[in-house]
Amino acid sequence: MTLSFNRVARKNSITAAMYTQLAEALELAAEDAAVHVVLIQGDASIFTAGNDIADFIAQIETPIEPPQLAPPLMRFLRQLAAFPKPLVAAVCGPAVGIGTTLLFHCDLVYAGDNATFTMPFVNLGLVPESASSLLVPQMLGYHRAAEALLLGEPLPAETAREVGLVNRVVPPAETNTFALAQARKLADKPLSALIETKRLMKLAQQSAVQQRLQEESASFGRMMRAPAAREAFSAFMEKRKPDFSGL
Ligand code: COA
Repeated sequence: MTLSFNRVARKNSITAAMYTQLAEALELAAEDAAVHVVLIQGDASIFTAGNDIADFIAQIETPIEPPQLAPPLMRFLRQLAAFPKPLVAAVCGPAVGIGTTLLFHCDLVYAGDNATFTMPFVNLGLVPESASSLLVPQMLGYHRAAEALLLGEPLPAETAREVGLVNRVVPPAETNTFALAQARKLADKPLSALIETKRLMKLAQQSAVQQRLQEESASFGRMMRAPAAREAFSAFMEKRKPDFSGL
């Protein structure tokens, strides 16, 4: 099954309706014996600009109690983190926010040499999601994780490969095709052995990841309503630099 972000005019930013579609597709893919592998891709210029910021603003305007991530996003994250079959990603151009954090749940990640990986949560007055507060330090080591998560600095494709987030860097025009070829290799293997091997590789982490998703959701829900995030979202919409003085 191939899932393609296709909202290029908005840089493939993800709305609540898109999270629901993604979650439903993963639920179907997990159940359907005909699906052996899922490939997630954008186009050659953009993977995704992350959560739609207008959606964040709408969520602040109609808050849910207790504070938490929007249910469609949480449903997608739970599916993604527990997805039993192989997940392959093809990333070209910017992968922002969840565009990067979802990759920590993928098994194989291929990147165009124009890919950049950014987790700008702090710059938006937010905190990491997708259990990335657990998984990024594990993969990058604490200090590189702090550059990525506290400074919100982008990782270029080659650095992402060096730290282990990306398997291989290829030309952008070839990335989706290359990832599909790798996915097809997986699809030819015995599905039961793929599922069991993935389960065993993830076994030690699974409950810690689910717990962290929950903890991050509560924290994100609180931070979203606070003045720093409100200022960051307004600044984005008004195309100006945010002013965090006093926040
Ligand atoms: N939510 C809503 N709209 C978004 C968006 C997002 N996350 N990302 C981009 N857009 C919109 C822009 O507002 C712009 O709209 P406009 O044409 O009405 O002005 C359009 O998509 C094109 O984006 P633009 O910023 O002009 O493209 P770019 O090529 O200069 O930059 C990015 C691309 C991805 C680097 C940049 O759009 C960006 O940083 N986006 C925000 C990422 C972000 O903070 N996401 C949330 C993470 S938690």
